[in-house]
Amino acid sequence: MDYERAVETAPPGWRHFTMSDLDRLPAAVRDHELARIPDAERELLAAGDRDVIERVLRACFWTLIYHLEPERWDALATAEPIHPGLFAVLPTAPARVLEIGAGSGRLSAHLAVRYASLIATEPSAGLRRLLRRRFTDIHVVAAWAEALPFQNAWSQLTAACGLLGPDTTALHELERVTADGGEIVLISPEQPEWFTANGWQRLSLDPLPVPPHDDWIDAFFGPLDPPHELVARRNARPTAD
Ligand SMILES: C[S@@+](CC[C@H](N)C(=O)[O-])C[C@H]1O[C@@H](n2cnc3c(N)ncnc32)[C@H](O)[C@@H]1O
Repeated sequence: MDYERAVETAPPGWRHFTMSDLDRLPAAVRDHELARIPDAERELLAAGDRDVIERVLRACFWTLIYHLEPERWDALATAEPIHPGLFAVLPTAPARVLEIGAGSGRLSAHLAVRYASLIATEPSAGLRRLLRRRFTDIHVVAAWAEALPFQNAWSQLTAACGLLGPDTTALHELERVTADGGEIVLISPEQPEWFTANGWQRLSLDPLPVPPHDDWIDAFFGPLDPPHELVARRNARPTAD
């Protein structure tokens, strides 16, 4: 998500964080987040400009949640289950399956019952701990979508939920690790219309009612919207010259 959109769409819970929380992020994650701040705002931030501090905290909200408060993410993911109708379009028997940005396992749980061989990648150490505790059979790997530690064409199904949009670096990386003829499936992508305009199939189902959940989740994260659409494409790897 780009910086401006992240500022605009931050849930009310951004007020829970202060600038000192940014210092608690792992150094590589903090550097990655700070690099997103436009140059014009950087000096104002250093000078303690209150408006800019608010914008930065808004922009960093989701990263602060994933890395510092993974249990809050897990509570939200539990209250927003993936529409079960989406799983009907998953391929039946891919030999190797890769999940990107697995979080606390909302999608992993469904992939693990369908496929024997699943590797789940996740950059947040706290979320990886939750994943490993919950799914002892899944191989969990620390990785960013933009630099996946897998060979070309390793996966026959590469899937993600709530993570990717039209970010060409990450999408190229997913194409690289997916076999020719393998499937790439993105549940709840950002800007799904971009994907359909670029040749992806889109499946959009009517949202299901939100299950019962604690009131603090709405107050902190805003209106809930369980995933109910996906985009998918069969990977066509470029032929070598
Ligand atoms: C909206 S959550 C979705 C988690 C999980 N897929 C689910 O549906 O519950 C996004 C996840 O992607 C991870 N993430 C964020 N940026 C990432 C990136 N550049 N590469 C890989 N994972 C990323 C976050 O740590 C978080 O776990």
